[in-house]
Amino acid sequence: MVGRRDFLRSSVSAAGTLLFVKNSPLPFAPDSSGADSRIEVLLGEPLGTISPNIYGHFCEHLGGLVYDGVWVGEGSKIPNVNGIRKELVDEMRKIHPAVVRYPGGCFADSYDWRDGIGPASKRPRRTNFWAGAEKADGAASHKYEPNQFGTNEFARFCKLLGAKPYLAANVRSLSAEQFYQWVEYCNSPAGSTTLAEERAGAGFREPFGVQFWGVGNESWGCGGNFTAQEYAVEFRRYTEWVPRYEQEISFIASGPNVDDWEWTRGFLEELTHKGKGRLPSVWGMALHHYAWNLSRGKTNNWEQGKGDALTFDLVDWYELLREGERMEGLINGHWQIMGEIDTERRIKLVVDEWGPWYRPGGEMTPGNLLEQTPTLRDAVFSGMTLDIFNRHPEKVTMANCAQLINCLNSLYLAHEDRFCVTPVGHVFGMYAAHQGGQGLRTIFSAPVTTYDRDGKAATFWGLKGAASLHDKQLVVTVVNPHVSEAREAEIGVRGATVKSGSVITLAHTDIHAHNSFEQRDLVKPQTSALSGSGKIVHHTFPAASVSKLELTLA
Ligand code: AHR
Repeated sequence: MVGRRDFLRSSVSAAGTLLFVKNSPLPFAPDSSGADSRIEVLLGEPLGTISPNIYGHFCEHLGGLVYDGVWVGEGSKIPNVNGIRKELVDEMRKIHPAVVRYPGGCFADSYDWRDGIGPASKRPRRTNFWAGAEKADGAASHKYEPNQFGTNEFARFCKLLGAKPYLAANVRSLSAEQFYQWVEYCNSPAGSTTLAEERAGAGFREPFGVQFWGVGNESWGCGGNFTAQEYAVEFRRYTEWVPRYEQEISFIASGPNVDDWEWTRGFLEELTHKGKGRLPSVWGMALHHYAWNLSRGKTNNWEQGKGDALTFDLVDWYELLREGERMEGLINGHWQIMGEIDTERRIKLVVDEWGPWYRPGGEMTPGNLLEQTPTLRDAVFSGMTLDIFNRHPEKVTMANCAQLINCLNSLYLAHEDRFCVTPVGHVFGMYAAHQGGQGLRTIFSAPVTTYDRDGKAATFWGLKGAASLHDKQLVVTVVNPHVSEAREAEIGVRGATVKSGSVITLAHTDIHAHNSFEQRDLVKPQTSALSGSGKIVHHTFPAASVSKLELTLA
């Protein structure tokens, strides 16, 4: 990968792990049902509102993501809405996408937004940031950016989805002035500025109303190779004056790579060098974490450490989950450092890139750069990760899965007129029910999963998830990571009884199962009624599964 730093193991433990809490009175006594696990939802212990924005997406000009995935062109025989793939829009609407990040990623710091506006036939072709990584026979539109999809088309895409746009500004190679003008193009009122008139000329009289602005991307690497201190100076400069037009603006600072604690501390120290008055200029601090190292501790080499997307054994399954599980420690660790300087807790975390990253070879459309075909493993990974965000609503205010279509942890795959929803897409569909709910502390206790890691016993947790309350409706999502053992659980809600409920389960007998253009529904959520009601209900969580319980409380 371009400029990604070597990873060091996090020294912060997964502090959010929810096991039995000693001395905590049980709301219900174990019964004789043979249950091996227990889930207790604590109605009296709210965690905060789960921001819909943690169910966010990421759309970069990279490989087949924009050209082929999102944009098929207005004259295409593939059903489209003003050039945007219709099936994608229809599917995304079902999952209530809150926010979409664009145009990168690393691409963002090489992109001139002016190339992507104005008459489509006059827009220039430019060398894509990712051109060097493309194969010689790679698609021309993936190597040489044709700029047919730009700010206007992206704004239309967001409008069609009912999602908010999140734009990442180019700090490495454009000036602060050009950043202000992009804001002006997007947000200045109809008829007010020359750029507003240019926007109107393209058919967009009303402002796009872009609230979220990323100030660079991975500024420690592809976004300029700055030190944290140098970047803080740039951040102050880029955000010191930005036109507002009565539009709330939220700046997202390029934050740490994985467990680079010094970036977080160094950035905030330099930002506040002249006083803490600068803290409110940061709405969110970006955090990036990809789960890529499946070498079982043998190497930290970015190329050698990666595993395969489709061919894996059960150790690889657990290794990926272990890598993903680091997210909770990263959130807690960076949050603690942020609090040393931001004592009033104005700044939240924005995990605007997350997901598994495998070596090339697992593409549905061979040759598509960074495309991988998500399996049931990635669905379990994604459920686990979204539950980590759900459990930290006071810290995580936005997250963007990397990336939407034809890329890393994609929700969708498409090529020409073919399309499918991946198991990851189904998880987003199930978990949308958490959006805007009140997160509740929930205690999961289950037998620990053990496995043989190259001759040494290794463990992973047995059952975990998250709960949120929406009036009288309780949503509980649960991941069973065990490749072969189901978990029979007693479920109790302290402070309420369960009147009725339903369950949606995503599972398959083959842990490698995935959807494809030929078998679009191999991995698909199944709905069933929850048997029982009262103080305790029972449910069996199948092996290697993601489940959602929707319970009506009395
Ligand atoms: O998601 C792919 C790339 O990973 C992004 O462009 C970059 O920000 C990160 O390194």
